[in-house]
Amino acid sequence: MLIQTEALVKDYSLGKTVVRALAGVSLTIEGGEYVALMGPSGSGKSTLMHILGCLDTPTSGRYLFKGEDTARFNDTELARLRNKEFGFVFQNFNLLPRLTALANVELPMLYAGISRRERLRRATELLELMGLKERRHHRSNELSGGEMQRVAIARALANKPAVILADEPTGNLDSRTGSEIMNLFDQLAGIGNTVIIVTHDPTIARHARRIVQLKDGIIVNDGSPETGKRKEN
Ligand SMILES: Nc1ncnc2c1ncn2[C@@H]1O[C@H](COP(=O)(O)OP(=O)(O)OP(=O)(O)O)[C@@H](O)[C@H]1O
Ligand SMILES: [Mg+2]
Repeated sequence: MLIQTEALVKDYSLGKTVVRALAGVSLTIEGGEYVALMGPSGSGKSTLMHILGCLDTPTSGRYLFKGEDTARFNDTELARLRNKEFGFVFQNFNLLPRLTALANVELPMLYAGISRRERLRRATELLELMGLKERRHHRSNELSGGEMQRVAIARALANKPAVILADEPTGNLDSRTGSEIMNLFDQLAGIGNTVIIVTHDPTIARHARRIVQLKDGIIVNDGSPETGKRKEN
């Protein structure tokens, strides 16, 4: 079992009021699954993704990653886990604008202590895979949105993560560029990567083989895109 959550609750305090973003989410995701997390704005998709990627911790409930309770990890261990096991792709790309495409892709490997030579080799290979070999020495702010997102995907793959987590990865792209990006995720899932995509767009979600629907912080449906039938858990 790669990912297992049990009754996850996440509360945010805003002064005296408490917002319950997740209200008891129990979810299991196996290695190699291609999952879309769907739901209306405010339903808790990003909150759940942040907890799955160890960017945030739940208020209550448990999150087991590869069978280990993540509550047992201290901050350093969590940071290491995040860098090694998760590749993140965001709506606004989150690249460092003044660094080249190559340097952006090398960054997670730098944090992981990988040698300069190996970083360069792998970053070049990944950018080539993304069709960006000719752009590798461009600063990321000189690239188009679709190119920036492909650099971000290359960066997400840098440390060979167990899970690729993408939050509205096509949200800032036109529909054609968005579908090119989705084809890349399809390919990554097709060769066995675990891919979790957050989206409110049904066209995007249909790329996945499993759609988990959130509403008001709980899972209201979990099934395949074709039948919509609930997955046996
Ligand atoms: N840092 C925060 N502080 C307080 N409340 C928050 C915080 N982050 C999220 N929330 C609240 O938690 C709820 C879930 O938010 P979340 O960002 O997970 O929703 P979402 O499904 O990703 O929405 P969207 O589709 O708009 O991105 C919302 O009511 C939101 O206002
Ligand atoms: Mg969100």
